[in-house]
Amino acid sequence: MSEISAAMIGTGFMGWVHVEALRRIGVRVVGICGSTPAKSDAAAKQLGLGRGYQSFDDVLNDDEVHSIHIGTPNRSHFEMAKRVLEAGKHVLCEKPLAMTSDESSQLVRISAEHPDLAAGVNYNIRFNALCQEARQRIQDGDVGNIFHINGSYVQDWLIKPTDYNWRVLASEGGDLRAVSDIGTHWLDLIQRTTGLEVEAVFADLYTVYPTRQRPMGEVATFSNEAAAETEAVEITTEDYGAILLRFQGGARGTVHVSQVTAGRKNCLRFEIAGSKKSLYWNSESPNELWIGHRDEANELLMRDPALLVNAADYPGGHNEGYADSFKYCFRAFYEYIARGDFSAEPTFPTFADGHREIVLCEAILQSHQTGSWVEV
Ligand SMILES: NC(=O)c1ccc[n+]([C@@H]2O[C@H](COP(=O)([O-])OP(=O)(O)OC[C@H]3O[C@@H](n4cnc5c(N)ncnc54)[C@H](O)[C@@H]3O)[C@@H](O)[C@H]2O)c1
Repeated sequence: MSEISAAMIGTGFMGWVHVEALRRIGVRVVGICGSTPAKSDAAAKQLGLGRGYQSFDDVLNDDEVHSIHIGTPNRSHFEMAKRVLEAGKHVLCEKPLAMTSDESSQLVRISAEHPDLAAGVNYNIRFNALCQEARQRIQDGDVGNIFHINGSYVQDWLIKPTDYNWRVLASEGGDLRAVSDIGTHWLDLIQRTTGLEVEAVFADLYTVYPTRQRPMGEVATFSNEAAAETEAVEITTEDYGAILLRFQGGARGTVHVSQVTAGRKNCLRFEIAGSKKSLYWNSESPNELWIGHRDEANELLMRDPALLVNAADYPGGHNEGYADSFKYCFRAFYEYIARGDFSAEPTFPTFADGHREIVLCEAILQSHQTGSWVEV
């Protein structure tokens, strides 16, 4: 894939994770753009990239760049993704795709107006090898009819009222936080894995801290640093959410999300109960898939390419994890571009997938506000 070159927007957590994954699949990264020229230059130096861009326009005007990755706070995704497509470049945007379904539907339309450009949204978790395995087994009928799907995505990095990040502000991240930031990963993964779309939701959301202490100055994602000076800010986004789900075809489900669960660092779990088997997976032990039986001993499948339906890079016992899911997601994106057949079914999460997640978020918020089931 050496003929395709990319650039990165955003110099925070996702900035270096994307650059690292792109390098692993052989896509050249021309440069990086931060919120100021000084940040761009510092990130370019640290990551060994040729260019620290002086502005977003400089990236759009760089003829050496064919594809742009957006890893900035959610508020900027819509405008940036739109401008990337209008500049004639492929775009891979971080989730959530936009702040509202009005914005994300516009992006779906703009993407359709540029059929020769790939437009992806980074729902990377679906690319874990054992999640792909679960999907394949369900598709092959191995699990039977799905009765119910239950799970959670929980973290602890916002457990204190002094924990702060741009995500806690609705103006930066959107009206929903835990649901949109991590819940949409779970919802994307489950819909992709089972092939069943969510048809209706009933939600209860809870903002544990209606006020948080904001440090004076920017705070990096997952930072543990205590700030010297802070100010109180009002918080309207949820720390916790529980959602009842009804899936296409009648399956039922529940998911809860939390950024205030002590000890859970980045823990996504699902259990899929089918008429023949159950499947359970936990992102904190991503190399194991539990397979439950009624009439024989349960199994624990350790990730080993020799035992999987789909390929995986590392041999069994050589554990894969978070960073590998980015690598596989980006590989799907760039192999699709390299094949050059843009009428083919995309193998990566598309803007339509990203839009669907935002429609779901809005239904979840409406359900919480009205105390009733909302159809999606
Ligand atoms: N897929 C995943 O697993 C995953 C994980 C974390 C974050 N994310 C998503 O990635 C995005 C970024 O999150 P993060 O955790 O990296 O945040 P972060 O705060 O660590 O980094 C964001 C960076 O964007 C920069 N920035 C802000 N405005 C900018 C602009 N106009 N131009 C250029 N740079 C700008 C900031 O200076 C900061 O360095 C969010 O949308 C988030 O939801 C996805």
